[in-house]
Amino acid sequence: MTLKLRYADAPLGHEILGVDLSQDLDDATFAEIERTFDQYGVVLFRDQQLTPRQQADFSRRFGSLEKFLIDTFLLPGFPEIFVVSNIIENGRPIGMADAGRNWHSDMAFVEQPPRGSALYALEVPHDAAGVALGDTLFASTSAAYDALPEETRRRIDGLKVLNSYRIFTERKARQEMGDGGKKTQAEREKNKDSVPDVIHPLVRTHPRTGRKCLYVSGPLSVGIVGMPEAEADELLDMLREHMTQPRFVYRHSWRVGDFILWDNCAAIHNALGDYQLPQRRRMHRTTIEGTVPF
Ligand code: OGA
Ligand code: MN
Repeated sequence: MTLKLRYADAPLGHEILGVDLSQDLDDATFAEIERTFDQYGVVLFRDQQLTPRQQADFSRRFGSLEKFLIDTFLLPGFPEIFVVSNIIENGRPIGMADAGRNWHSDMAFVEQPPRGSALYALEVPHDAAGVALGDTLFASTSAAYDALPEETRRRIDGLKVLNSYRIFTERKARQEMGDGGKKTQAEREKNKDSVPDVIHPLVRTHPRTGRKCLYVSGPLSVGIVGMPEAEADELLDMLREHMTQPRFVYRHSWRVGDFILWDNCAAIHNALGDYQLPQRRRMHRTTIEGTVPF
């Protein structure tokens, strides 16, 4: 069978049409979805109506689901669903308000980061004119790698990047945040000394497609093993700049019922966060276990 796609004007972010994720999909349909996901790195399904159980069941077909490090925002009764939201109920944030407010690959601070993650939109903020706010940007790390000059590719192949949750948390503390953000920051502070720095390949090989991907996770990536700090800063800044050029980026404008699945090797993403209460945003996230990067 072939799936119908609506292509985004970007290397990734294409919409898969005509699939109802609440149904028990047959193996052939699922295989085609997985092939499309592997090929592009970010896929979108619109107009879904998913219970937390259905979201978890579909996500689990890609691999075991992970419980997020910050357990305050797991959906009650559904530890495999992490709530991303700015909503405050009974004086308490119901989710992480400032998730992903910079370019990153999810959980690049652990030895074995997730294969991918998915967000399902339950509430989407709007401006007074009805235009959706809180877009998420996705950039193709494989297209970005392929577009590097040969000389740069030779220079960076084999290098190792140092990711530090501790340094990231300290930097994050200097940013201004709203109430939900402060709560999240307190959770980060609690974790920061128990999350050791981790070293990953700067150029990763996708475990399923074999494509090479740039593995720089925004401000979390703080150094290159064996390289003087100034030189590493310059190289990392150059790569961050390179990989987020508009030609590699899909900008997603959310609608309620959207389900987006991204590959954490083939893509990085960035939440714009250009809204605030009473504009409400509520998403359910599932996280799929991955393998050690090589
Ligand atoms: C995440 C994330 C982006 C968003 O949940 O990992 O980065 O737009 N979210 O909420
Ligand atoms: Mn993220």
